[in-house]
This record gives sequence, C-alpha cells and structure tokens, in this order.
Amino acid sequence: MQVFHFEQVSSTQDLAKEYLKNNPNGIAAAFVADSQTNGYGKQGRDFYSPAKTGMYFSIALPKFDLDSAKAGLMTPFIAVKIVEVLQKLFPNKSFKLKWVNDIYLNQRKIAGILVEKVAVGLVVGFGINLTTTKFPKAIAKKAGSIDQSFDREKLEQFLIKNVLFAVQNYDQIDFLDEYRKLSCVIGRQVSLHQGQKRYAGLVVNIDDQGCLLVDIQHRLLHFSSGEIDKVDLEK
Ligand code: BTN
Repeated sequence: MQVFHFEQVSSTQDLAKEYLKNNPNGIAAAFVADSQTNGYGKQGRDFYSPAKTGMYFSIALPKFDLDSAKAGLMTPFIAVKIVEVLQKLFPNKSFKLKWVNDIYLNQRKIAGILVEKVAVGLVVGFGINLTTTKFPKAIAKKAGSIDQSFDREKLEQFLIKNVLFAVQNYDQIDFLDEYRKLSCVIGRQVSLHQGQKRYAGLVVNIDDQGCLLVDIQHRLLHFSSGEIDKVDLEK
C-alpha cells in the first residue's frame, strides 16, 4: 500500500476521496497528516486536528464491496484494533470504547473513527490526540489526549496494519466480545439521539450486528446508528 505524508491538509478524508475519484481501479492508499485545517467527524462535526500533537489518517480503498448487512461491524472492529495498538504501546493507560466510534481515556475522547462509503470505494478515517493539551472551548470538557508521545513512524505502521486487518475481516464477529469488554456504555444510563429524536435509557448490550440495545422504559430498542450524548458513569 502507498502511504502519503503531509504536514498540513484540509482533511485527509478529502484527499482519500479525491484519490478514489482519480484511481477507481487503483490500489489502497493511506493519507497521513500532522495537522488538518478542516478535519471532520460524524455528522460533519469538526475534528480538532492541531499540528504535531496528534495523528490523522485516512485509508482509501478502491472498489470496496461493503456488505450492507454487516456494515455495522466495521467501525467497532476498527475501534478494537486501534485500542489493541494503543494498549500495547501505552500499557499504563486504560482505553475504553464509547459506541460506536469513539475511543476514550480517563472519561475523555482521545480518538475518533469515521468510515465513509463513496461511489467508488470506501474511506476509513481515524484521528488520535497524542499530546494535545489545549482544546477549543466547545470540546474542552470532553476531549483529551493520551498525554504521551511515541515514535510516529512506528505508531503509523502499527495502526495502519491493524486497521487494514479490521477492514478486511469486518464480517467476523469474534471481536465483539472484546468490544463489549472495552465498552464504557454497557450497563450505563445514557441519553442519545438519532436524527432529531432523543432517547434516554439503560444500555443493555451491543448485539452481533454492532447495534446498541437500550432499555427505554422496559422496551428494548436496537440502534444501528445514533450518537450517545451523555453517559452516566456514577451508577
Ligand atoms: C468522529 O469523532 O466523529 C470521527 C473523527 C474522525 C477524524 C479523522 S482524522 C483523519 C480523518 N480526516 C478527517 O477529516 N476526519 C478523519
């Protein structure tokens, strides 16, 4: 696989999409940046990507055939494989997963994953805050970093290797037990939204399709998409 490095880009997702447009039959390529001026996450939200303190990746996969029945497993598997790398390199930290695409440390989001299906393939993006300390006001209470750096080249190699493994094997459900173990929402009261609709309830489990199972006033609802806004970590 080709890996392209940049000091600053608008968004590595945009570069990966452009690559797919120009190389619809090409090989997979990774775009890695030290900073992004227009990094974004789920629902088009900004993903703060300052220089040197984090790493920002997008992998472009031409002609990727995503099985829609199993598509919900890809992001959770990528999350597990990223945590596998981080846990190995930073053994004193305890990483957690917040359904579906957020990696947490000490109750703060330190990394996010964004999988986008486009006409000519798939773009898998992920960003990690390594040593970022100052965040914009709007996310200052939620965002954090690993607070430790590591050889960027090695980290890049490990991450790309593991993420590619997840992308190529996303339809296998064996990893879900690990995802459940790492989850910081199972057994917790949460509030979440799906589009304009808001819900509050108890997360009972994550099923074999990667859906969140929430007990809302004794009715079990399955969420294949949505966003958890708040997790009650006290109870
Ligand atoms: C999220 O938190 O909702 C997902 C965040 C994904 C951020 C990564 S950083 C590299 C790639 N480029 C982007 O603009 N977004 C993804």
